[in-house]
Amino acid sequence: MRMYDLILKKRNGNPLSKLEIDFFVNGYTTGKIPDYQASALLMAIYFQKMTKEETAHLTLAMANSGQILDLSQVQGIKVDKHSTGGVGDKVSLVLAPLVASAGVKVPKMSGRGLGHTGGTIDKLESIPGFKADLTQEQFINNVNAIGMAIAGQTADLAPADKKLYALRDTTATVDNISLIAASVMSKKIASGADKILLDVKTGSGAFMKTVEDSLLLAKEMVEIGTNVGRETVAVISDMDQPLGLNIGNALEVKEAIATLQGHGPQDLEELCLTLGAHMLVLAEKSKDIQEGRQILEDKLKNSSAYQTFKKFIIAQGGDPLAVSDPENYLPKAKESVSLKAWETGFINRILAEQVGLATLTLGAGRETKESPIDLSVGVTLHKKVGEEIRQGERIATIYYNDEAKAEAAFAVLKKAVSISSAKPEPRPLVFSVVTP
Ligand code: URA
Repeated sequence: MRMYDLILKKRNGNPLSKLEIDFFVNGYTTGKIPDYQASALLMAIYFQKMTKEETAHLTLAMANSGQILDLSQVQGIKVDKHSTGGVGDKVSLVLAPLVASAGVKVPKMSGRGLGHTGGTIDKLESIPGFKADLTQEQFINNVNAIGMAIAGQTADLAPADKKLYALRDTTATVDNISLIAASVMSKKIASGADKILLDVKTGSGAFMKTVEDSLLLAKEMVEIGTNVGRETVAVISDMDQPLGLNIGNALEVKEAIATLQGHGPQDLEELCLTLGAHMLVLAEKSKDIQEGRQILEDKLKNSSAYQTFKKFIIAQGGDPLAVSDPENYLPKAKESVSLKAWETGFINRILAEQVGLATLTLGAGRETKESPIDLSVGVTLHKKVGEEIRQGERIATIYYNDEAKAEAAFAVLKKAVSISSAKPEPRPLVFSVVTP
């Protein structure tokens, strides 16, 4: 078999066989196929697309490129959660302890982020002492004892995805439904959970900008999961404006803690309750969504979710003072500057993609895999879309350590916001739910 023939076949719009896909994934992971040929194939896939069968073959080839985690030592139904990625998306920090406090087992492997802010692991590392590199034994023990653990992805978890994702990121081939579906589901299958809850984002800050495309992606992933015996549910949620009010690593941890204490932003709490209710049903801890939601509302009110978060942080070496007093124990930027309303009216749009870009400009995210990350910087929104604002009132505040970066970020942030004289139509927070 020759890589050239696979590229030609896909370039001409023909489907690849399982053998051909296995040849590509194995060859690329082991370094026998060079980046330039892999890039050419990815671009051909981008334009010619893949059939459902090809996507399923690609997913399994990538899942099997490394170790498949054996979580049989974890008692109970294990439910994993994955988001396709968004701006201000700190859902895992709230959701995992929330559902774990209701008896769901959440063994979560998370990545570091490329893009606007760090990934879940970067965010957690703003807590002094927190360690994400657990041994398999520690990981399993913590899930059994606390109900959850969040560890960094090991190098041997779907290594094909790691290599291909880095290549896609530099060749403008990320936003393809089959490639995203295979990337997400290969990691979830290799992570070893019994069931999977997907948060598929839609809007300006998501890979999928339209609800239609997000629905196609969700259906494809639910079908792949179901076909390999991992019951999968996908919730399509809004990412046109950032989620919550804080964007930036330590700022997002602070907001997650506030949400676990029952005083977080309404949209973040609402999304966590919705996603969590689906996780409870998947884990057979509630008979339906309504009951699941009620259970979780109680866990927030009686502080069980917050206590679970604290136990999880302590178990992974984090300073408990950062949880009980985040204002004083999480990294803080030195300076701040606010964007103020230039006219009276209603907040019409806050484009998540632009806010993400502003945060990246401040240094909260990585431009390349090797870039250092500033955990203290970010943006706090004082208003959300649809709210009334008076001229001179603060729309958002930038927290920064570098004057030049703040100036550039300010210009980007200003472009993210528009003000209208009429109140805009509200966008739903959850658009639809895809079940098997
Ligand atoms: N998240 C992933 O894990 N992979 C993608 O391709 C896109 C989002």
